[in-house]
Amino acid sequence: MELRARSLHPVFAAEISGADASRPSPDLRDAIEAMMDRHAVCVLPGQTIDAHQQVAFAKTFGALESPPRVRGSRGARTEKFPPEIFPITNLTEDGDIQSEDNAARQYRLANALWHTDSTFRQTGATYSMLHACVIPPAGADTEFIDTRAAYDALPETTKRRIDGLEAEHSIWESRGKLGGYTPTPEELIARPPARHPLVKVNPNTGRRSLLIASHVSHVVGWPRDEGRALIDELMAFAQRPEWIYAHRWRVGDLVIWDNRCTMHRATPFEDSKYVRDLRRVTVREFAAA
Ligand code: OGA
Ligand code: MN
Repeated sequence: MELRARSLHPVFAAEISGADASRPSPDLRDAIEAMMDRHAVCVLPGQTIDAHQQVAFAKTFGALESPPRVRGSRGARTEKFPPEIFPITNLTEDGDIQSEDNAARQYRLANALWHTDSTFRQTGATYSMLHACVIPPAGADTEFIDTRAAYDALPETTKRRIDGLEAEHSIWESRGKLGGYTPTPEELIARPPARHPLVKVNPNTGRRSLLIASHVSHVVGWPRDEGRALIDELMAFAQRPEWIYAHRWRVGDLVIWDNRCTMHRATPFEDSKYVRDLRRVTVREFAAA
């Protein structure tokens, strides 16, 4: 299958034409995978797909995650979606804009921290695919960092220092930093931390990348302060403007990012005034335990 890529940034990210997500096939999957290995973030514009079509397309890449139930989220409306859809929205179940104290809003606010989806799960994640249904008139870009470029640029001494290290990741670490969502005791038990190597290797290309960001609580086997200092140092290093691509959304965009080699974050918009409604699915890296 012939896909064309137009570069969106000097080091990564491309807009892909010739792909129709409503017609999934092994050929389309292979072609997208080749694009993803190269660009890490691919934008498929003008995709007219419903939630079921989005899930069917994503399933050609592997088993999908199911979102946890979050207090205050779109209960009734979510029922209309397949169970693999993560609504990335500021709407309530009644279709109103969430109030400031809405728990789902507070949970979502931590998306403004640099993060990598699902590093807090043992099963990890390869691709996330976010489809834009309603976009506010200003703000709300999603920013991405190429953590392959960041890894490559590290001093050799740092590469040696982090080789073989593991970090512990927890959803409650990022939620504790921003947003004010307090987990119930049941949620704490249901979503325990996970451990992953600090350096990821892409199995297809052999390229290395940093796997860090806001869910990391500590470096396994290191004193907390030292591990924290190392993570902070790596995070500061990775945030160079030349490795950041800011995606300005258009309705119909399907943006795919590789969680193994990127970090991303939401940027602000007037979320008590305008609607922003997107749907995400995420492909698991490893089979569920
Ligand atoms: C996500 C996410 C950022 C945004 O969907 O995983 O982090 O800008 N989204 O909505
Ligand atoms: Mn995310």
